[in-house]
Amino acid sequence: MRDIAHRSDPNRKAPMSQSRDHWSSNAGLVLAATGSAIGLGNLWKFPFITWENEGGAFVLVYLICIAAVGLPIMMAELLIGRRSQKSAVGALKDAVASKWPAGRKLGGLVGGWGVLAGFILLSYYTVIAGWSLYYFAQSVGWTFGGFPADLSPGELFDAQVGNAGLQLALSLSFSIGTIAVVYFGVSKGIERIARIFLPILFGILLLMLFSALSMSGAGEALAFIFRPNFAELGRDAVLEALGHSFFTLSLGMGAMITYGSYISRKHSVVKASGAIVALDTIIALVATVIMFSVIFSVAGMRDEVGGSTVGMLFISLPELFYTEVPFGVVLGPLFYVLVALAALTSTISLLEVVSAYLIDERGLTRHKATIGAGAAIFVFTIFAALSFTGTPILSTMEVFDGKAGWFSTADHFVSNWMLPTGGFFITLAAGWFMTREATKSELVDGTEPGWFKYGAWRFFIRWVAPIAVAAIIYFVILGVDFS
Ligand code: PFF
Repeated sequence: MRDIAHRSDPNRKAPMSQSRDHWSSNAGLVLAATGSAIGLGNLWKFPFITWENEGGAFVLVYLICIAAVGLPIMMAELLIGRRSQKSAVGALKDAVASKWPAGRKLGGLVGGWGVLAGFILLSYYTVIAGWSLYYFAQSVGWTFGGFPADLSPGELFDAQVGNAGLQLALSLSFSIGTIAVVYFGVSKGIERIARIFLPILFGILLLMLFSALSMSGAGEALAFIFRPNFAELGRDAVLEALGHSFFTLSLGMGAMITYGSYISRKHSVVKASGAIVALDTIIALVATVIMFSVIFSVAGMRDEVGGSTVGMLFISLPELFYTEVPFGVVLGPLFYVLVALAALTSTISLLEVVSAYLIDERGLTRHKATIGAGAAIFVFTIFAALSFTGTPILSTMEVFDGKAGWFSTADHFVSNWMLPTGGFFITLAAGWFMTREATKSELVDGTEPGWFKYGAWRFFIRWVAPIAVAAIIYFVILGVDFS
């Protein structure tokens, strides 16, 4: 019966017998979910926060957070989804009700909070994703026409983000691409794209890694990233590592619950979780090694990079491809293809969270849900895009201290408030509201790998993860900003 779309109201449009779309294989699931996890968080945020926090010790703490908090929650989200075969709202209702029937509504609210987080996150994520299209087009031009000697990368960047028409065109293109994939559904849209794009993404990254490791700064970069210096490590760095582990693994908002709801009983939640978490972490580290090798190879670059994450990806790197990086004329455009592909496989998962809710809970057809949600989200993308163009209010509003503009406000709200609170309730749902039998039957079903110990998972999901996440929430309430 699990393969049948569950509906609480039989009068809704989609027929009871409509079979739920599923990933066609374990590899399909892993690639799609890894595609969701690998994104701007790996290429844009992680290298920068590693930089800000002086490398080594921060990276080690991050790895611990990923293993102790990220991995157990990944399994929790996928199992909650697989068990109920419903999107985030319905799945969390079922999870909470498994021990506490009166708590269905609360479960639904937590799911709704996640859907809202997906909605907002997608609305501004698309803007940065759009920049990758611009830099791809520019770098193709530089590859064939040469990098103009008098071009100031900083000025180019400012002109790009300040141009409202261009910003809207770029984000609209990216939104249309996202809608087009989700429109075709799980196996024919999302999985198919992931199967094609992820191997391309890995290939490009590998080429870049070879090139970067041949540069003179590679040794210093590796030491910076992997040699821990605990003197540099403060409380905020630990919070930042923990908060980022949610963002990078697409946790805390039901994306993995939604993807989990398309797993059939033949496929292992535990194996998939291990693979997704490992791949996401490796890619974040590889991206960081690449960027730092380039930066450490160029005299004076360290000081220039200090400014912002955006700076590293869109201001420092473009020129370096043409002046420093071996085979940079080829790797430059490929790098921006990589950023675009990584972003696209994440944006499709965000749109899927919202669309799946509309399909499962509101009875919309997939086509209507995808186009409707995509269009509604794009309205907010316009606000985010215009917040870089000097538009009154959108560029200047300041709800959170030091976070001026719509874009920064939305990012701060989602990363600091929505993902940790959503994640906290998800750990409670899996660790405390679902019965032991229910979670055990999802994780220990003959498909799990030998290294998996159910008792250990249960300990982490009941104690370690909620306490760690509660600590983030506590400090956020006190006003600590870790994003
Ligand atoms: N994991 C993505 C990244 O690292 O860029 C961001 C993200 C995508 C978060 C999808 C949440 C999500 F549902």
